[in-house]
Amino acid sequence: MKLAIIGHGYVGLVTAAVFADLGNDVWVVGRTKEKIAKLKTGDPLFFEPGLEEVLKRNLKAERLHFTLSYHEALPGAQVVFIAVGTPPKANGEADLSSVLAVAEKLGPEIKKYTVVACKSTVPVGTNLQIKKLLSQKVGLAKDKFDIASCPEFLREGTALGDTFSPDRVVIGTENKKAEAVLLELHKPISGVRVLTNIATAEMIKYASNTLLATKVSYANMLAFLADKVGADIEQILYGVGLDKRLGRKYLHPGIGFGGSCLPKDVKALISTGRKYGEDMKLLEAVMAINSQAVDNLVTKVQYILGGKLADKTIGILGLSFKPDTDDLREAPSLKLIEKLKILEPSLKIKVYDPVAMTNAKKILKDVIYSKSAYETAENSSLIIIVTEWNEFRQLDLRKLAAGMKAKNLIDGRNIYDPKLAKKSGFNYLSIGR
Ligand code: UDX
Repeated sequence: MKLAIIGHGYVGLVTAAVFADLGNDVWVVGRTKEKIAKLKTGDPLFFEPGLEEVLKRNLKAERLHFTLSYHEALPGAQVVFIAVGTPPKANGEADLSSVLAVAEKLGPEIKKYTVVACKSTVPVGTNLQIKKLLSQKVGLAKDKFDIASCPEFLREGTALGDTFSPDRVVIGTENKKAEAVLLELHKPISGVRVLTNIATAEMIKYASNTLLATKVSYANMLAFLADKVGADIEQILYGVGLDKRLGRKYLHPGIGFGGSCLPKDVKALISTGRKYGEDMKLLEAVMAINSQAVDNLVTKVQYILGGKLADKTIGILGLSFKPDTDDLREAPSLKLIEKLKILEPSLKIKVYDPVAMTNAKKILKDVIYSKSAYETAENSSLIIIVTEWNEFRQLDLRKLAAGMKAKNLIDGRNIYDPKLAKKSGFNYLSIGR
């Protein structure tokens, strides 16, 4: 099939790479000349394991093309995927301006029957808005297109695997014709097919991401209490997770969920609820607990340093919102650093991350960049593990402690055995243990 994909962020680019690898002729449309030039060389513009290799393979095979021109990409495409950003507005509502602007631009280029499928996470009702725009504003005839909602469930860091073999493929359409085209396109991809209407498909995406966020906040809420009653959250959740109805996934406490999706989608669903007179109380609590998770860490910093923060140096290990990505959007590390600086402006903050340093340098100015975990620890009075990168999981704790002014370690992701950390000479605090 010939496909056009509008947008080359995580969703757009990974979708393009996967469908090209499966033998389709894929055209990706962007709007920034420099970015398109880089993409043409196989540079994904962000860190995602394995992606560069797949891009290069398909560029070489001429199954993957990058362009600034809708006119070049659209003609003959059987499916157009809209995969542009829907960032939150100040009131939490999803900003749909990019999605609608894209629909307006691609409409005039549709000459033959095309399925216009939205992969961007959009509030319920948006696809109908796209349809209205295409038929009324653009004047596209009814028989020239159908709309569809095809939400994407990929995670950063495992995006290729998630797209090649997802648990499910959700296809929301208004008729069998569009459904058949999308079923044909997804044939080589595994996963249960969920064939449904547009509003349901749109809601499945929000329902999934908000439930993941709810699990994380639930784990954090219990961890706060575990700390106070002398229980061990890891053992509590191990015990809970063995019940197959509950499972252990997304029940890892820490410093809260971040990234480009979970926080944004919880806020957007609260906002949709408000619009329809539904009070999404549970989700309000999920967001409140998520910011409490950062505050909880700040309290531990004050406690471990005996309230004496002035002129101290603190080392932060991990900046990205989770391992295996260089993404800093809504990263708890940034919130933590901001709160610490407000609490004590004289604090010196050293930071290290295996891949997110280049991105961090664009936004974090008032910190010292280190080259390794050990360099971060040198002369620091406290090390905080914020992101559970593999390379932080088996640090030589004695070596880490050796150069420190005071041997304090806060493990924000519970990756160390408290006994081992203490044996290595650390004052050690973790979350809920
Ligand atoms: C998420 C969804 O998982 C994916 O299906 C959707 O398509 C996009 O949003 P992603 O943003 O890549 O993917 O991150 P994810 O791996 O889900 O983690 C989100 C955040 O939750 C991270 O900050 C992570 O550290 C945190 N988290 C996750 C926890 O704190 N504890 C957990 O147990 C799990």
